[in-house]
Amino acid sequence: MQTFRDDLLAGKVAFVAGGTSGINLGIAKRYAQLGAKVAVCGRNPEKAANAAREIGPDALGLSADVRDYAAIRGAMEQVVDRFGKMDIVVSGAAGNFLAPVLGMSANAFRTVVDIDLNGTFNVFRGCHDLLNLPGASLIAITAGQAINASALQAHACAAKAGINQLIRVLALEWGPHVRVNGISPGPIANTEGMARLAPDSATRQSHFDRIAMKRWGEIEEVAECAVFLSSPAAAYITGTILDCDGGSQIGDASRMDLSKGMA
Ligand code: COA
Ligand code: NAP
Repeated sequence: MQTFRDDLLAGKVAFVAGGTSGINLGIAKRYAQLGAKVAVCGRNPEKAANAAREIGPDALGLSADVRDYAAIRGAMEQVVDRFGKMDIVVSGAAGNFLAPVLGMSANAFRTVVDIDLNGTFNVFRGCHDLLNLPGASLIAITAGQAINASALQAHACAAKAGINQLIRVLALEWGPHVRVNGISPGPIANTEGMARLAPDSATRQSHFDRIAMKRWGEIEEVAECAVFLSSPAAAYITGTILDCDGGSQIGDASRMDLSKGMA
């Protein structure tokens, strides 16, 4: 995909929390391709080291749990020690599983809210004085569950809805110096998220049917949105949630029968 100039992010420093696999790793790789110095972070140190190797020789793979403020702050301090102040921070760590409320303990609900929502607070609160100001770009990875109530997803719906509001509040409070936006991916192929949320062929088919564009997205397509939001092309965009979802949020395309009313 040739969408941006190869040196678009030269001289920039990017940190991706939860960037050791899936969509967030795709974002980290694309930032590095476009010239940024990139650090990624997850809980598993071996996975983080492998991700850094995949990204490139200069990438940094760190280990911290976003639920632990001191730990994630420490990871971001390491990024600044190595590369200098950060220009781009992505908060994408998440946990998810399908469970009805009555099949979910208080700790199960808290765990997902803690990783997704409190983790995003910790990453963004912790990064502020480590940013290159003005002009820094923060991106939280949210999801359609923030808007659409989904059975078996009470924890993720609550957490991602909270993230959407946190994005807007931070955009208001940090307006002149830091842009704060979100990306809401639809179902993305070859990800842990979809392996968990659509584990069988019937569920996968229903996801296809519902989407206007009749396909799942690619990790690279989400990465292009992250590059756009972090680039000068988005200089006047803050507090927005960019849907990268093939039209998933518009409505349920499986309910339409377009043959009706045709001549
Ligand atoms: N159904 C119901 N409850 C579940 C569950 C499931 N499928 N999976 C975990 N839980 C519960 C656990 O039983 C535990 O509750 P309990 O203490 O009352 O028994 C609670 O959730 C926490 O589980 P634990 O395994 O201790 O959490 P963790 O912090 O080690 O892992 C998870 C977090 C559970 C979210 C784990 O799935 C994970 O690490 N996910 C990351 C990858 C991922 O989800 N990717 C997709 C992103 S969209
Ligand atoms: P993934 O591959 O499971 O990625 C999750 C990442 O977060 C991993 O790097 C994981 O590494 C890290 N992580 C998890 N818990 C953490 C914690 N407590 N502290 C620090 N890091 C942690 O997931 P994905 O499917 O690509 O999803 C990525 C993001 O996109 C998530 O925010 C998800 O909600 C969102 N999203 C995904 C889809 C989709 O189709 N997949 C759709 C909409 C939104 P460790 O396990 O080593 O910690």
